[in-house]
Amino acid sequence: MATDLRPERLRCEHLTNPFGIDVAQPRLSWTLAAERRGQRQTSFQVWVASSPELLAAEQPDIWDSGRIAGPSLGFHYGWQPLDAGQRAWWQVRVWDRDGEASDWSAPAWWEMGLPRAEDWHGEWIGLSEAAATSEVAPEDLTGLLPSPYLRTAFTLAGPVRRARLYATARGVYELHLNGHRVSDALLAPGWTDYDARIQYQTYDVTGLLRDGENALGALLGTGWYAGYVGFGHNCGHYGARPALLAELRVELADGTTRTIVSDGGWRGTTGPIRYSDLLMGEYYDARAELPGWDTPGYDAADWKPVSAQPRDTVALVADVAQPVRVVAELPVQATTTPAPGVTIFDLGQNLSGYVRLRVRGAAGTRVQLRFAEILQPDGTLYTENLRAARATDTYILKGEGEEVFEPRFTFHGFRYVEVTSEPTVLDITGLSGVVIASDTPLAGSFECSNPMVNQLQHNIVWGQRGNFLSIPTDCPQRDERLGWLGDAQIFVRTACANMDVAAFFTKWLVDVEDAQSSAGGFPNVAPRLVTLNDCAPAWADAGVIVPWTIWQCYGDTRIIERHWAAMTRWLDLLQRSNPDGLWTARRGNDFGDWVSINSDTPKEVLATAYYAYDAKLMAQMARAIGRDDEARRYDALFAHVKAAFNRAYVSPDGRVHGDTQTAYLLALHMDLLPDDLRANAAARLVADIERAGGHLTTGFVGVGYLCPVLTATGHLDVAYRLLLNETFPSWGYSIKNGATTIWERWDGWTAEKGFQTPNMNSFNHYSLGSVGEWLYRVVAGIDTDPAAPGYARILIQPQPGGDLTYARAEYESPHGPIASHWTLADGRFTLRVTIPANTTATVVIPAASGDAVTEGGHPAGDAEGVRLLRYAGGRTYYAVESGCYEFAAPMTA
Ligand code: BGC
Repeated sequence: MATDLRPERLRCEHLTNPFGIDVAQPRLSWTLAAERRGQRQTSFQVWVASSPELLAAEQPDIWDSGRIAGPSLGFHYGWQPLDAGQRAWWQVRVWDRDGEASDWSAPAWWEMGLPRAEDWHGEWIGLSEAAATSEVAPEDLTGLLPSPYLRTAFTLAGPVRRARLYATARGVYELHLNGHRVSDALLAPGWTDYDARIQYQTYDVTGLLRDGENALGALLGTGWYAGYVGFGHNCGHYGARPALLAELRVELADGTTRTIVSDGGWRGTTGPIRYSDLLMGEYYDARAELPGWDTPGYDAADWKPVSAQPRDTVALVADVAQPVRVVAELPVQATTTPAPGVTIFDLGQNLSGYVRLRVRGAAGTRVQLRFAEILQPDGTLYTENLRAARATDTYILKGEGEEVFEPRFTFHGFRYVEVTSEPTVLDITGLSGVVIASDTPLAGSFECSNPMVNQLQHNIVWGQRGNFLSIPTDCPQRDERLGWLGDAQIFVRTACANMDVAAFFTKWLVDVEDAQSSAGGFPNVAPRLVTLNDCAPAWADAGVIVPWTIWQCYGDTRIIERHWAAMTRWLDLLQRSNPDGLWTARRGNDFGDWVSINSDTPKEVLATAYYAYDAKLMAQMARAIGRDDEARRYDALFAHVKAAFNRAYVSPDGRVHGDTQTAYLLALHMDLLPDDLRANAAARLVADIERAGGHLTTGFVGVGYLCPVLTATGHLDVAYRLLLNETFPSWGYSIKNGATTIWERWDGWTAEKGFQTPNMNSFNHYSLGSVGEWLYRVVAGIDTDPAAPGYARILIQPQPGGDLTYARAEYESPHGPIASHWTLADGRFTLRVTIPANTTATVVIPAASGDAVTEGGHPAGDAEGVRLLRYAGGRTYYAVESGCYEFAAPMTA
């Protein structure tokens, strides 16, 4: 019988058909689809060939894996090193549980970039110092430069068979070929520690080249390399002026090859972009446009020779993550005129990006765009909280009918845009909000019967979208936008639930490791810039927690192997500095439970808890990669720190020093208490919430553990109460007051006090949104079994509560789509579940006995693919094979 099992969604290095990778042994993976329950893969075979035709002809000239036994949905290609630029096509077939072979999957491919330094032949090119000053930059913003326009022309003697453009910049770049933009990627090459490594990108430009004369052009911005970054009002952190490195490799139809590289033969000039800075904004003078500058035949006689510099030893590495792109465009929701000549457009959503503006007017008219997240009571922009980020775009009209302005190398965090113009008021013919972000694919969705909770989920997703831009930043609007480790570690699990961030964090964890000190200290921000300190508890620990979480969510142990040495250095440093098990020394900036509400958790309690947690996660990761001796060593370290924690901070009645919500959350979440004190500690946590009138008081650190710990300790009702609260402080309070993203502070704005201090008051910070994982894992009930990471074994354990009558989540796991959808009606609980092929699940039904539980209308215990495991704690546990199911049961009170 033909099998219904089908391999799908072929991926390489977490990406679909990646261009230009430099991993020598890339990981190939797939998912499986099937109609029948309990389908699984018993073996597989992979073919790799140099063309799809060879695959079709059953001639895998690069590699034939043969039939490999096992359920694995991932394996490493690595038998024959591929050449620079070589593309490999691959396909997979599988054998099902009955030994029947599937059809071959549709072919997929990956392509090598230029992995070795000697593969590159170009030089860094840019404008000379004299050519690179801006005459329009505001006085207090020294260092803002006009964007260089660079070009070269060349002739091809025949039609093109294949062409690849490899490029990067010190700064940010946009490439043009024969009048076309080469890519829709924005702000490439992205932010890394440019003194350690720079990412390059690969583009297929076969269709843009032609027989005869061609023109290749580049437009550069200062970006993170030379522009303003972070607080402190400094630019030029890595260098003063941007530069391009490019290599165009062309294969003509007749088999000859041509390589065009960035070198001293190019010419450069400045044009309409008088400056463009991430924090400060863009100044665009349309009268200075260079029509046709990127086309063949353009007369560049008055352009200057570029300055060229040989490549240095900084590593060039292939970009491993999705690029920044336009991910949405939002229309205007409302327009107001708070003063004559001042128009404010409301996009209805706090976002990261810019606006696309269409205007008509006389040449020389100057339009100014200013941005804000929120309005003052009088209806004007509130910009104080942007601190020194000027976030202002200027456009000078050329006066030729409708003109469209869209900045190149800046972005703002905003909901409102104010437009003014001089000398005359303008005819604005169109305006929209262009949302940009690292284009991480959506992986999850969550919805329930409570609109406020749905708005919370919306705000979390928009917080993530607005802050995952090349690196995970704290906020997108003020003069900060740094890769804070504390924010990232508390949010990473939620991030994984919403979007596929495997590649995104694979990239950023290299930034984290690049930023580790020689002593082993993980930094507070990565790339390490502006704030150079390290070792802050709950921040630096991201160096351990983030790899652990990525492994748990995606099941790929390479992230552990890649960073094992760095993580070990970190734990060694902690141990060396704190041999007695209390983290008292080397706590760097020691932020504590940042932005908590009148509730200071003692910093040594928080620090020591993380010290223990690191050791615990290290032991788990060591086991996962077969380092059993080290696992035992970290088990012992965990026991040592836990014992010290108890001696120093825990009373016999379960009181944890500080007696704050976060103190209990840390102790309970990180398993620091003897079993017989857990209930007492949890009761104290609940008592503290009661004392606060049923409110949370936690900051960034405690908030992530709040609902999970309350659930795990039998206080689900309290967790729901916090979730559904609308009074201050709560998630609901911000929503009631119009939040469309997660605020940095619970009291960013309150009815009593108005705005918090502008020194630190972002309305788009994702940290307090770390409750999102609980919506998926507990409310909808989709989780991975920690013993089988990456959803190889799935836990479906929805826990209804509050006033919810339904919740549903869907999640595109590494094994395929998982769904959980429950409803409560007429005293009956119904649960529809989808478990992908080749996985199994434990499904937990909130019914005290299995007797009344049905699946598909029949007693659940008899259903195909379902096996009763046990009853415990008012719930019934089933072992469930892959497939779609509908369980139902009378609801227990
Ligand atoms: C950032 C945070 C960060 C914190 C460190 C703030 O300025 O915005 O998100 O984690 O500093 O405490």
